Amino acid sequence: MDTALLNTLSALDARHHIHGNSNPRAVVENGAQVFSRGKGIRVVDEDGKHYIEGLAGLWCASLGFNEERLVEAAEKQMREMPYYHSFFGRAPVPTIKLAARLAEITPEGIEKIFFACSGSEAVDTAIKMIWYYNNATDRPEKKKMISRQNSYHGVTVAGASMTRIPINQEGFDLPIDRFLQVGGSHYYRYGEAGETEEAFVARRAAELEDLIQSEGPDTIAGFFAEPVQGAGGILPPAEGYFEAIQKILRKYDIFFVADEVICGFGRTGNMFGSDTYDLKPDIIIMAKGLSAGYQPISAVGVTGRIFDGIHNLGAQKGAFGHGFTYGGHPVAAAVALEAQNIYQERNIVGHVQTVCRKFQSRLSTLSDHPLVGDTRGIGLLGAVELVADKATKTRFDPSIGLGNKVFEETKRNGLLFRNAGDQLLFSPPLIISEREVKEIFDILENALNKVAETL
Ligand SMILES: Cc1ncc(COP(=O)(O)O)c(C=O)c1O
Repeated sequence: MDTALLNTLSALDARHHIHGNSNPRAVVENGAQVFSRGKGIRVVDEDGKHYIEGLAGLWCASLGFNEERLVEAAEKQMREMPYYHSFFGRAPVPTIKLAARLAEITPEGIEKIFFACSGSEAVDTAIKMIWYYNNATDRPEKKKMISRQNSYHGVTVAGASMTRIPINQEGFDLPIDRFLQVGGSHYYRYGEAGETEEAFVARRAAELEDLIQSEGPDTIAGFFAEPVQGAGGILPPAEGYFEAIQKILRKYDIFFVADEVICGFGRTGNMFGSDTYDLKPDIIIMAKGLSAGYQPISAVGVTGRIFDGIHNLGAQKGAFGHGFTYGGHPVAAAVALEAQNIYQERNIVGHVQTVCRKFQSRLSTLSDHPLVGDTRGIGLLGAVELVADKATKTRFDPSIGLGNKVFEETKRNGLLFRNAGDQLLFSPPLIISEREVKEIFDILENALNKVAETL
């Protein structure tokens, strides 16, 4: 390592810190980029350089990086009751209030709330709840879960078995048994040449029904879906997709789990992605925007029917034998509750509905750029997909690292986003202004032009 780096935080990090979802060799050789503070939608690195956080960190800092009310809520709760749990029939105050608030705002039918600390834990909890329910109701064979190509449902053993992004499974001996996959729901990438969107949806619905039939309907327990697939490339569903899928799930009594970890709390222009796409989930998974990312907290909302199963079997056994030490942590719950207050008082959903018009219109203009094959999004989610050939949708040779080159160029100019290969993903803080939307797209457009010149 460069000796000049040796005494820096970056060097310390390179020596001792294992990063998630990073190239370990690059971190060890170059050290990490260190961030020390944030203001509004921007973060500031160790060298004092300011960047727009085009992905709100990891899709979560909805209220930006210096919301004082959330700091105060944490401080107040720390003084009153810094820790307590929800085991043995006990519970701290803000956790009870947050459960009631979430039961009120989640889609119709969701009645009861369980808390964990991360999206992955919430996903695993949902799987276990479904297994538990099916044991409670004497359906011991009904245990398999279905998720979709490109889906992201976290990295725990069961969650990563449903995450269908190769890098999250390869090398980990995943998926484990009982986890099945169906094709992706994004028409641009998976529609066949000459196939209408309607025909594509019919094909995906038939594929699902065929899988259920071939495995045996009595063995299929749940279908997990993000309303808009996030980490897989910001892939909104084809028109009519969820209507067709939900019909099949109802027919075979398969639980529909909406993984709202990214879409929840305003991201798609409604409180939940389920509202945007008219989903009727049996279980809803929430995290990220729940606390605006300021505290690690996640939640699983279930219908009365599922709770009845948990209630009956749990009572019979003496306990529902599941729960996390820090699940529903009072400080995290107090912060999440205050985030909900802010969303309501400042009409964050209304703000997203207004500001997303400019965001989506600047995004779709990029479709005309010679490097761009597809632009897509909804609310404050947006992706740009780079292709070598617009007509055939052929991707660039990955060794060119084109998405990375665009990223390096925008980073030089003060904009961070996430490039999943040549898919450029944007999910800025929900408090973004129209002027800041313009800044993002001006920087991005210049970067695309500059990189295009080098080809
Ligand atoms: C849709 C979805 N589900 C689950 C997860 C996992 O959440 P966590 O990283 O908090 O475990 C994520 C994380 O990005 C996600 O986007």
